[in-house]
Amino acid sequence: MSSASNQSNIGQENRHACVVGMGWGDEGKGKIVDLLAGGFDVVVRFNGGANAGHTVRIGDDSFALHLLPSGVLRDKAISVIGPGVVVDPIALIEEIEGLEARGIDLAGRLLVSDRAHLVMPYHKLEDRLRDSGTQGKKIGTTAKGIGPCYAEKMLRSSAFRMIDLVHLDRHTDRLKAVCERKAAVLEAMGADDAGINTIAINYDEINSTLEIAERKLSKYVAETTSCLEDAVAKGQQVLFESANGMLLDIDHGTFPYVTASHTGLNGVPAGAGVSPHLVRRCVGVTKAYATRVGNGPFPSELLDERGDRIREVGREFGTTTGRPRRCGWLDAVTLRQTKLLGGVTEIAMMHMDTLSGMAEVGICTGYSLRGEAIRSMPADSEDFAAVDPHIEMLPGWKDDVSGVTKFESLPAEARNYVTQVEELVGAPITMVSVGPERNQTIHRT
Ligand code: IMP
Repeated sequence: MSSASNQSNIGQENRHACVVGMGWGDEGKGKIVDLLAGGFDVVVRFNGGANAGHTVRIGDDSFALHLLPSGVLRDKAISVIGPGVVVDPIALIEEIEGLEARGIDLAGRLLVSDRAHLVMPYHKLEDRLRDSGTQGKKIGTTAKGIGPCYAEKMLRSSAFRMIDLVHLDRHTDRLKAVCERKAAVLEAMGADDAGINTIAINYDEINSTLEIAERKLSKYVAETTSCLEDAVAKGQQVLFESANGMLLDIDHGTFPYVTASHTGLNGVPAGAGVSPHLVRRCVGVTKAYATRVGNGPFPSELLDERGDRIREVGREFGTTTGRPRRCGWLDAVTLRQTKLLGGVTEIAMMHMDTLSGMAEVGICTGYSLRGEAIRSMPADSEDFAAVDPHIEMLPGWKDDVSGVTKFESLPAEARNYVTQVEELVGAPITMVSVGPERNQTIHRT
């Protein structure tokens, strides 16, 4: 991957692919990326930051990844953190060292874009303060500093990137000025009243954190766009791994209850630094039901014992924040919209086993707003929260399906459920997951 190459990949098979979430995150993308990564040479993260949480189970071991691509667990794949990711350097060091402690060494296998922006300690405090309920709508963020870091990127003059870690001495005066201003702004915004201590927002403290980060991370910093160009030219296959979910997309999600990046295939060219024509296969991941963490509309939410049951059986508690997830029926309206917007060519349906034993399972097939049927998600979050979901109930399946390996061996009701969803959404379901292990996956080709 590192050697310069001017070969063309014209005529070589293009199997580059992207894995995206079709909901509000936590769809199970980590398992799908891990499964597919064996067939790819390079796995690339292109959006978000440590707000993501991918749990991958291998045998008795469970790995929670936040910033690193799930491909790191495949020892042959190169992992890339692209320019569109916002990197909390301390969180990245902790993740790398956590893997090293379990015998997984990333030396020579991880590249972090020199253009990726740094999540600074003051971004995390600002995130908490902005989301404390005193500054406008409470989004329910992960408090990982994602929104403030992307906002800083747009402001430009006060932003810091991975390349700045490598040349820290060139940024002394700027860092001093930014730290002073940030402490004053956070105080003026009412940090004290919100119980947020800004004492650590000073140049000495932040500079010494960045010096540690420079020592530990500079060996991974690279100009990743030309590395990816070389890989493609050599005929290597690249898998792009989205963080969060398409309903959390900054432009197309349930604004303002969204994250601050482009979470679908739309984010790949800019966030990874590759041609928009590169990827033809896009695997959209959804659960057999829907979940959401944080605030915002969720028309098919179940606020009864069926929602509680799904949460318990599906272990629906956040990987990043530990928060209980809101649970509801699968929503074919949002899935259809994210399929079209996201260029999804096939679907992986996760957690089929979680629904086993329910007498009936529901699918949201449409909405009406103030008595009128509507075709798509309203832009206004209050309207969206007020829609009436049309829920179609289908017969459930009694048997435990967690050991099923062939689609034909699923109970008829489960097969019917899968084909109904395919028809409503308009894309083939090529993988059905029936448990957390790699081998608990039904492949339909
Ligand atoms: P932020 O990305 O931390 O700014 O959070 C914005 C919204 O996106 C909140 O509702 C979060 O709970 C949600 N969110 C962000 N990342 C994820 C994820 O990976 N899974 C689920 N929800 C997420």
